[in-house]
Amino acid sequence: MKSTDWKLFYIAIILLTNGTAASQKAVFTSLEEMVRLVQLEADFIENLSSYADELEAKLKKLKRVIPQMQSRSNEALHQVENYISNPINAFSLLRRMHEDWQEWNVFMETSVGQSQVKFFNKARQELPTTADLYEAYSSMYRLQKAYNLTVKDMSRGILNGKQYDASLNALDTYAIGKYLIKVDRGVAGEWFTETSEWLKQHTLQTPIGDEREKVLHLFAQAILDYKYYSIALTIFDQALLLASNSTDPALLSKRSTIEELSRREVKEKPKAKSKPTDFEIGCRGQYVQQSGLMCTYKSKSPAFLRLAPIKMEVLVLDPLVVIFHDVLSSREIDGLQEIARPHLERSMVVKYRANVQGKHRISAGTWVERKYNNLTWRIERRIADMVDLNLEGSEPFYVINYGIGGQYKAHWDFFGADTVEDNRLATVLFYMNDVEQGGATVFPRLGQTVRAKRGNALFWYNMQHNGTVDDRTLHGGCPILVGSKWIFTQWISDLPNMFHRLCRKQEPNAV
Ligand SMILES: *[C@@H]1O[C@H](CO)[C@@H](O)[C@H](O)[C@H]1NC(C)=O
Ligand SMILES: *[C@@H]1O[C@H](CO)[C@@H](O)[C@H](O)[C@H]1NC(C)=O
Ligand SMILES: *[C@@H]1O[C@H](CO)[C@@H](O)[C@H](O)[C@H]1NC(C)=O
Ligand SMILES: *[C@@H]1O[C@H](CO)[C@@H](O)[C@H](O)[C@H]1NC(C)=O
Ligand SMILES: *[C@@H]1O[C@H](CO)[C@@H](O)[C@H](O)[C@H]1NC(C)=O
Repeated sequence: MKSTDWKLFYIAIILLTNGTAASQKAVFTSLEEMVRLVQLEADFIENLSSYADELEAKLKKLKRVIPQMQSRSNEALHQVENYISNPINAFSLLRRMHEDWQEWNVFMETSVGQSQVKFFNKARQELPTTADLYEAYSSMYRLQKAYNLTVKDMSRGILNGKQYDASLNALDTYAIGKYLIKVDRGVAGEWFTETSEWLKQHTLQTPIGDEREKVLHLFAQAILDYKYYSIALTIFDQALLLASNSTDPALLSKRSTIEELSRREVKEKPKAKSKPTDFEIGCRGQYVQQSGLMCTYKSKSPAFLRLAPIKMEVLVLDPLVVIFHDVLSSREIDGLQEIARPHLERSMVVKYRANVQGKHRISAGTWVERKYNNLTWRIERRIADMVDLNLEGSEPFYVINYGIGGQYKAHWDFFGADTVEDNRLATVLFYMNDVEQGGATVFPRLGQTVRAKRGNALFWYNMQHNGTVDDRTLHGGCPILVGSKWIFTQWISDLPNMFHRLCRKQEPNAV
């Protein structure tokens, strides 16, 4: 293959292959994995750069010696007989032909940058898989829908009206479009349109960067194959502008074919936007929300709280939902994160106490025993004092890290209504960081959206006074748009709190 053919072959592969899903590492939603990829890309660049240095060094060496050789050779050619009749010239020529040129041959054959090539080959095994990419596509689509983002804004780095220093190139938007064809042809078309817009203004930075016209043809053909005729035509026309002979009948005939097809094309609109769900409305912060009913310093009962009163905001009285403000210090949060970090793994959805891995929740989580160390012990005491409930027999802390696109769809914390064992009477959810965009906790049936705020804790009862589970506590974690989210949860069992439940009957407002 000629080198330009090779380069085009490379981009054709990118444009036309359809990967199949294999194993899944949850790369896109995992902060740690993404950090690893940033580092790996930096390593690639470093290696590519030193590869270039070695190529350049080799080239310089050659360029330095070639002029000397040429001038000697020209001199000889100019007067051949005279030149070789001199024994000194003759000897030198003979020796050069026997020794030097063999060495130059070896020099040419020795490939440059073998260590870098080896590094690339080895590192390729750590690259994201097709399944990882699929997860990323669906996360992008999920964010687009959840926050009603336009394709144009997304691809230009505008998220919920805020401009970020980020954007997608033609290969990015094309890849998302291709993924979405089977999901929603209309939305896929919007992404391809963005591909076309990008190509108007930029040239792709790939090994084929200098082949603009051919790249445009490849994009046009790829999009034509998916039957988006008018978008293909726009890109084809851009290529035509660069054609050395724009009256080439082959090109013109192809153009009229595409034009004819595009004239008859029935443009597919994005699927009628289903009305946003109550959950989505909450995630967009669009509930008509009353501010906290009261903001008070809880300082009754346990001695600890009299010494260190906690600022408590009641969001809903029935069922009781409250926010405790600033209940964990930065140091405590950092300490807990340190404990959890090594153990984070793709977390399981607990469904009727059976662990199943599901799309439902995209995150990494780990259990941390309350008696793990002095820090967790202290936090346990704080929770018990704060909510005035007995934590005995309750599950350990559950620390969860959600990455971009990570969410937990609306669900209940209690187990099935027919559960006879102890159930999750109440939930305490601690926010370990602020989330730049997204990641709020939403109660669609209560019309409440709670933003993640480092150090705050959200508390609610999952069960009513008489022991029935409370459906109104349906809640979920909104997808993360920008940032990541760390929380930990303490679910509180009802059995050790029988007595407290009785008490609450007489004193419904007590927490
Ligand atoms: C390639 O990158 C790796 C990781 O940064 C580094 O250890 C190695 O020395 C690099 N190799 C070359 C030849 O630059
Ligand atoms: C979604 O965004 C579009 C345009 O940006 C707007 O016209 C539409 O009203 C929005 N839909 C909702 C439900 O907010
Ligand atoms: C362009 O192509 C047409 C048709 O093949 C040919 O007649 C014409 O001479 C070409 N023009 C140039 C400038 O090569
Ligand atoms: C935990 O607390 C105990 C009692 O206050 C103390 O003796 C011990 O040194 C603490 N351990 C750590 C690791 O701080
Ligand atoms: C418990 O109370 C709720 C609301 O007051 C009521 O709807 C439900 O039927 C009661 N359940 C039982 C078992 O009494």
